Amino acid sequence: MADTATLARIPDNVPADRVIDFDMFNPFTRETDFHKAWVGLRMDTPQDLVWTPHNEGHWLALSPDLIAQVFGDAERFSSRIVMVPKSTAGETYSNFIPLSLPPTTHRPYRKLLNDKLYSAAINPSEPDVRALCAELIDAFADKKRCDFVTEFAQQLPLRVFMRLVDLPVSDLPRLKQIASQFTQPDGSMTPEEAGEAFKDYLLPVLDARRGSGRKDLLTHIADGMIRGRAITEAEAINLASQAMVGGLDTVVNLMGFAMQMLARHPEVQARIVAKPAIIPAVVSELLRRLPVVSDAREIIADTVVDGCTLKAGDMIVAPTAVYSLDPKTNPDWMTFDIDRKGVHYLTFGTGYHTCPGQFLARMEMRVLLEEWFKRIPAFRLAPDQEIRHIGGVVGGTRPYILEWD
Ligand code: HEM
Repeated sequence: MADTATLARIPDNVPADRVIDFDMFNPFTRETDFHKAWVGLRMDTPQDLVWTPHNEGHWLALSPDLIAQVFGDAERFSSRIVMVPKSTAGETYSNFIPLSLPPTTHRPYRKLLNDKLYSAAINPSEPDVRALCAELIDAFADKKRCDFVTEFAQQLPLRVFMRLVDLPVSDLPRLKQIASQFTQPDGSMTPEEAGEAFKDYLLPVLDARRGSGRKDLLTHIADGMIRGRAITEAEAINLASQAMVGGLDTVVNLMGFAMQMLARHPEVQARIVAKPAIIPAVVSELLRRLPVVSDAREIIADTVVDGCTLKAGDMIVAPTAVYSLDPKTNPDWMTFDIDRKGVHYLTFGTGYHTCPGQFLARMEMRVLLEEWFKRIPAFRLAPDQEIRHIGGVVGGTRPYILEWD
């Protein structure tokens, strides 16, 4: 087991045979692939529920049924805190809404996001997304190679998000750095500092937007009404911060994984070129095979799960990767199979916190593939490079090179 100074003491309610050595921020002890690291843990572990002393000590749900319950059963599993370590990132993030809110108060805040993120609001932006996508690909298509993460994945979704909130692209590096401290911390700021940094940035922006008549998401939040009263300044900051973290990390990372997967499957590339109409099915299978989020919940009151007593205040992590990469959910679960019948995944969560950004995320993925294959019909991973993945609340990949003829 790792350096004992950083490990939590095993509490009395944790049976010895449930203790494992797994750090979700660095799951690469045997596997360098993010998804295989989670699946490896599942395959090596006979129980559906285990406990790790890393990250202040927390439970880990490892069966599809239990993962779905953790996301879906708000009476037992509270979203007040959705991240480990609980006392640092978890507590700071617990200010952010609507994810931290219970079903009783969640709806009016969530509605403000839905108004701007559901399909009807997102669909009209597709031509703009397509034009930006084409511009980014055209910038490197003739070079016959690209650093996909840096030159594309960190560009398209982030720039689209900045249009949604109507903020200058020049502010992106700062906002992305703050958002990443919650999902893939690099030690440059504490979670508290990151929370403060969001506040410092957003407060003047939201003040200026209030009553401005602009059409963007931040203006909509600043002007929001909550059960007949104006949203408070603090609520607006916390709602906007949540949208930032949700929107700034996830699509980038999914795209990074997706193009690695497609690069390893020339037969799928050929099928897309021959019949672009299959792209939605390809996106669906990419979402199933490559989930990125491992959120947590806080136990509300002592409860028995899989024969163990979980104490009020304990944390339980529910990895969405383990949900869809399991034989009970999808036969032949590790195979990337675009002809799969019945594709089951929780990549966007489930229950009343199910991701409101999923329509935008799916559209961006589809448009990427549509525009990419018009220009680059066949591509591969450049040889002799080390592919390195990153663990965390949102898993991802470090930059890598794609090349084509
Ligand atoms: C591939 C891309 C994405 C993935 C995989 C993803 C995944 C998720 C998941 C799993 C949840 C549920 C969290 C939980 O219950 O603990 C969630 C919630 C959320 N996501 Fe996403 N997301 C993506 C894109 C986006 C985008 C683009 C936005 C914003 C523009 C966004 C904003 C949010 C927000 C605000 C919530 C909280 C919703 C609530 O509490 O009701 N997400 N997302």
